[in-house]
Amino acid sequence: MKLWLDGGLRDAASAQVSVFDHGLTVGDGIFETMKTVDGRAFALTRHLDRLARSARGLALPEPDLDEVRRACRAVLEANPTARGRLRVTYTGGVCPLGSDRGENPPTLVVALGPVPPPAPTTAVVTVPWTRNERGALAGLKTTSYAENVVALARARERGATEALFANTAGSLCEGTGSNVFVVLDGEVHTPPIASGCLAGVTRALAVEWTGARETDLPLDVLDRAEEIFLTSTLRDVQAVDRVDDRALPAPGPVTAKAVRIFAERSAADLDP
Ligand SMILES: Cc1ncc(COP(=O)(O)O)c(C=O)c1O
Repeated sequence: MKLWLDGGLRDAASAQVSVFDHGLTVGDGIFETMKTVDGRAFALTRHLDRLARSARGLALPEPDLDEVRRACRAVLEANPTARGRLRVTYTGGVCPLGSDRGENPPTLVVALGPVPPPAPTTAVVTVPWTRNERGALAGLKTTSYAENVVALARARERGATEALFANTAGSLCEGTGSNVFVVLDGEVHTPPIASGCLAGVTRALAVEWTGARETDLPLDVLDRAEEIFLTSTLRDVQAVDRVDDRALPAPGPVTAKAVRIFAERSAADLDP
């Protein structure tokens, strides 16, 4: 396996990042995960736009997106994979111990791993922890993901694959690595970006392609939604068959249509 690190392809087994890298010591970094099909990344342009936005949000130096594109291409060519997850990680680089940044350049890593196709349906749980829609990191895809690690572990303990958060105002927000959609009176709704959720690439495409509305929703909408589905790069559009102890039809008719539209439109254009 070859990956890209600081300007070139390296063997994954021997590639080295400093133990003083600010991504490691304090989670000062950003990332993107893309789906790859037959060696090509889906929605690369949208993911690179978000990488640049996240960098600005963390006041990291502007990433060289031409280099990131070159790196993605090189890694995909070096590791033929039918279906993969292509991960771009960009950190504050080598810094003094503590939260201050140093003078060193950022670290850029691009790596590829295999990934199975998503299950058509899944179970989710709600968790008592909140997303902070007013926090400095709200809406940024940073490597400070330990809250997601804890919540996802809770979901796994309960036989689910995703945990859903409310925000500090009690509104439905998002999952640890996905956005959430609900069907109410036959209409599709998803929380607005102001809820503190990540501006998911799949979410944006699903909104554009299905006409879903962005609506501030209380968390307990999950008790009455007719259907629920998740969107993410690695799930595409995925029906929810259980939320906590509540069973749901999955996929219900509205979700089934969203799944179909997403599959058709994403197959027709690799970089929508
Ligand atoms: C916190 C969070 N929300 C939502 C998403 C979904 O975003 P995307 O559709 O761009 O994968 C992700 C992606 O992994 C995420 O980490």
